[in-house]
Order: sequence, then structure tokens, then C-alpha cells
Amino acid sequence: MMRPYLEALSKGEIVAMPTETVYGLAGDATQTSAVEKIYRLKGRPSFNPLIVHVSDIAMAASYAVFSETAFDVVRYFWIENPLPLTLVLPLKKDTSLSPLVTAGLTTVAIRRPSHPLALSLIEQHGKPLAAPSANLSNTLSPTHPQMIRKQFPDLLILDGGSCAIGVESTILDAQSFEVLRPGGCTQEDLEIFLKKRLSICTHPDVIRAPGQMSRHYAPTLPLRINVEQPYENEAFVTFGKGKIPFSLSPSGNLLEAAACLFSTLWAIEERGEFQGIAVMPIPYEGLGVAINDRLRRAAAQEKIIK
Ligand code: TXA
Ligand code: MG
Repeated sequence: MMRPYLEALSKGEIVAMPTETVYGLAGDATQTSAVEKIYRLKGRPSFNPLIVHVSDIAMAASYAVFSETAFDVVRYFWIENPLPLTLVLPLKKDTSLSPLVTAGLTTVAIRRPSHPLALSLIEQHGKPLAAPSANLSNTLSPTHPQMIRKQFPDLLILDGGSCAIGVESTILDAQSFEVLRPGGCTQEDLEIFLKKRLSICTHPDVIRAPGQMSRHYAPTLPLRINVEQPYENEAFVTFGKGKIPFSLSPSGNLLEAAACLFSTLWAIEERGEFQGIAVMPIPYEGLGVAINDRLRRAAAQEKIIK
């Protein structure tokens, strides 16, 4: 079943890979031509580094320098209690990783997805896969294959159905313990394990994660957030208001809301009958932090790199 995908990866081609967060545009992280193809396909500026996806801690440790704490963190969040967490760690010298993956930085972002198809693809390929979300730069991240097909009609897609988590991984700088991007592993989860308060890096002076651009994850329709009363021609995205057309979660469950956030915005656009999207306030707690982060960037007007 994996053969065509493995063959493509060995040849330096790109494959859409399901993960528990969103689908990724995966390519062999050791082949510069494959990494170049990812940037080109996505239309992503090559100064925005990619996440390196590994199948186990040993693979990660051959590319990045792990402190004892970093080992503890991944043993817990990658293996014992899997949650989507990417660590930014010092890059080991003289590895086979393409320098394009890290955009020339001395650090590398690494994550072990928990999706069985992703794990098996990486494990059988035997080398890490660079994989940004499988969408054109600045558009919605895809959480099911149809969303990818629309933008990349000819792409080989490993179909894993819908992604369970629905927002991207949390990115933690494992040296400063700053959260560079809120995501599917909540700040509370991290703080309880690390037994310390973490800061969220909201205004970095250098761009350390593309998810930090002020406008990102954007649908093509204008989007307004924290709306109680929508305009007539807007699709109204609700939370905790019962089963109505664009409800993220009828009962007000943040896990459920995250899982269908991007697919709901996508479905609204596909309907082609609205002039805008209005989203109800979503509680700023747990996964609500990542949801609000994505919505705020989707609502931003300009593409300013902070
Ligand atoms: O859930 C996810 O993380 C998904 C799935 C496919 O795994 N991937 C994803 O990749 O969201 P992407 O490329 O859309 O986001 C990668 C983020 C960017 O914000 C990038 O700047 C950051 O990781 N990043 C990569 N290398 C970094 C580094 N060395 N230091 C800081 N941030 C880095
Ligand atoms: Mg992305």
C-alpha cells in the first residue's frame, strides 16, 4: 500500500502525508531538490524553515542536539502521551539534512507525528521528511484530502481521511522554553509537565515561524472574529449554540471545534454564496488559544511580517 509513496519520496518527489494535525507536503529532508520542490509548490519564501518529521526519538537525535529536559519532553509528548509538539533544537553539525530545510538557521524544528500512516511512511522511508502544511502559502491548512486536491490536482495523496486534531502542532523553543506557535498541545499540558510557566512569543523581532506572520491561515473571504451578530450576507460560524449550519461544536467542546475549524471555513467558501465569514467568540483557554490564534491571523488585513 505504501509502495508508490515510498518510490516517489526516494526519487525526490513530494507526497501529501496525513498527520493527526493537518496534512503535510512531505519530501525527503535530506534531498535538497525535494525540499526546493516543497517551497516551490507551496509558494513559500525559502527563509521560512520547515518542520522535520521523524518516526522516533533516535532519528530525531541524529539531527538535533537534545538536552536531558528535551529528551524528557519528547519521551512524554511523543511516546507516552502523544500530543502534537514540535521542538526547536540546536542543529547537529555535519548531518545529511538539506540546509534548505532549516533556511540556514543553526536550529531545527523536529516533530514525531502520531498518525500511524505518517509514522509508517517515515519509518519505511528510513529518513526524515520535511513537511509544511499541504496548502499554498497563506491559505487554510488542509484537514482532509479534498482540500488538498483543489489546490494541487496532480499531487500524490496518502489518504488518511480527516485529521483528528485539526490545528497544527505547538512549536516550543526547547532552549528558551518559549511557545513559538500555539497549537494542538496546549500550554497547560506543557506547563504541567515542565512544572513552570511558559511565555508565548507573540512579537518576535525575527520571524521564527511562518505561523507568526500577522496574516496566515486565511480563507479568501473576509473574516471577522468575536462577532455576536453577523451581517446578512455572512456565514455565521458558531460555538456552543446547538446544531446549526456552521457550528464548530454544538455543545461548546474545544477539541471538536479545533478538529473542524479549517474544514468548516473551507466548506463555507466552497458554497460560493457568502460574502464574508463571521465567527462567534471562542473561549481563550486550552485549545481555544490555538483556535483564536488561527482566526486572528485569518482575519488580519495585511501580510506584515512582524
Ligand atoms: O502540525 C504541523 O506542525 C504541520 C504538520 C504537517 O506536521 N506542519 C506545519 O508546518 O504546520 P508549517 O511549515 O506550516 O509550519 C512550520 C513552522 C513554521 O512556523 C516555521 O517557521 C517553524 O515551524 N520552524 C521551522 N523551523 C524552525 C526553526 N528552526 N526555528 C523556529 N521555527 C521554525
Ligand atoms: Mg502552514
